[in-house]
Amino acid sequence: MDSILSLSKRRGFVFQSSEIYGGLNGCWDYGPLGVELLRNVKEAWWRSMTLRDDVEGVDTAILMHPRVWEASGHVAQFTDPMIDNRTSKARHRADNLIEDFIERLRKKGKNDRAAAIEARLESAMQPADFHAIITGEEIPDPVSGTTDWTEVRYFNLMFKTYVGPIADDNSAVYLRPETAQGIFVNFKNVMDAARQKPPFGIAQIGKAFRNEINTKNFLFRTREFEQMEMQYFVEPGSEDRWFEYWREQRWNWFLGYGMTSDVIRLKPHDKLAHYAKAAVDIEFQFPFGWGEVEGIHSRSDFDLGNHQQFSGKKLEYVDTVTKARYTPFVVETSVGASRSFMAFLCNAYREENVGGETRAVLKFDSRLAPVKAAVFPLVNKDGMPEKAEKIYRDLQKSFKAQYDDSGAVGRRYRRQDEIGTPFCITIDGDTLNDDTVTIRDRDTMDQVRIPSDNVKRYIAERIER
Ligand code: GAP
Repeated sequence: MDSILSLSKRRGFVFQSSEIYGGLNGCWDYGPLGVELLRNVKEAWWRSMTLRDDVEGVDTAILMHPRVWEASGHVAQFTDPMIDNRTSKARHRADNLIEDFIERLRKKGKNDRAAAIEARLESAMQPADFHAIITGEEIPDPVSGTTDWTEVRYFNLMFKTYVGPIADDNSAVYLRPETAQGIFVNFKNVMDAARQKPPFGIAQIGKAFRNEINTKNFLFRTREFEQMEMQYFVEPGSEDRWFEYWREQRWNWFLGYGMTSDVIRLKPHDKLAHYAKAAVDIEFQFPFGWGEVEGIHSRSDFDLGNHQQFSGKKLEYVDTVTKARYTPFVVETSVGASRSFMAFLCNAYREENVGGETRAVLKFDSRLAPVKAAVFPLVNKDGMPEKAEKIYRDLQKSFKAQYDDSGAVGRRYRRQDEIGTPFCITIDGDTLNDDTVTIRDRDTMDQVRIPSDNVKRYIAERIER
């Protein structure tokens, strides 16, 4: 993780937000290469979701009517239990504090005690339940080492702000904690405007905000992030089939972009919300352990039903011929763009021994790679720079390319390997005689010689699968 973090900063993938002021916890900025990778991840998802007949895209507002969040259950239930330590003033999520303690017990081989606490944590609902575990087990604060704890309180994760000049309860709105609600409230608009009927889906990519108590692990849990969500509206009774279908689609999407089945796994939820029929996470093996990147949920008519009740507007499908009507059930796929960015970055990172030296390389699927090609003149004379620049300018019209004429070619290759550029083109003495160039493959490091006129097509064929 440290190597990936340092590479991210050094090569311009990710910077700490407001770094010159000491940073803002849980917020990150994408640099020149990061923004390309993030856009490519989003584009990959968008293409897979919307280049089909039955899914439409939307881009809805971040600020929504406050009743939306009452209907969705977020005002009442989108909370985490938190506890403060009086000595260090550190604030923790009570459940995480207990989980970390269980983990430490397991490492010490105290499995029976760990299992007993885990069982209590499973059934903990009220603040007092968490408090009883923390004080009863004398769990110390990781910062001060003391057990000087406050009570446990529930804390709502939504960021509140105000519309207009008067900051009172009548003008309060929330920054959306998920993009899905913008889809639910537009269900009927989209169905009618796009002349769709169930089964059909609505996809959206956008920012979401959560005032997480503890942010951790780089981009994994942040306060501002992006989600890629798709709600698929189906006839009641057909939801199990569609749940299986989307689980397989989403699993194959990760495999299709370079993940293997030893770094991702499916994890069904142990506990289901009362309205849910099924839920499974796709987890990735991050350097710090397994973590959820995507959730696939069969949500019944909970969301549309609640919005009908709270808005008083019908959100039904009515068959024009039979006049049969129903409120569709929903199968949701919800993946973090930022979290999958991090998963793809970790998945791509390798350190390889090449001729006794370590080469750091990002083996991205070429469609995700931020830079597709780099062009090098072997030396800065004999007409090579002019030829190289011409090829570079031509490539740059179609995809992100870089030009590098400094240092030995071996070092230039290493610089490109480190940012995951799949193809490096070198213009050398032979180019000037026969108009051919070498193209070097990032993963195999093999080189082929091809006519310079074919370079663009050669690369395009390999990145536009
Ligand atoms: N609409 C359902 C929903 O929002 P979720 O499991 O809360 O479900 C879905 O979030 C995905 O959003 C997660 O799998 C994760 O990839 C991403 N996500 C959630 N909270 C996040 C956070 N604080 N930082 C980064 N990504 C987050």
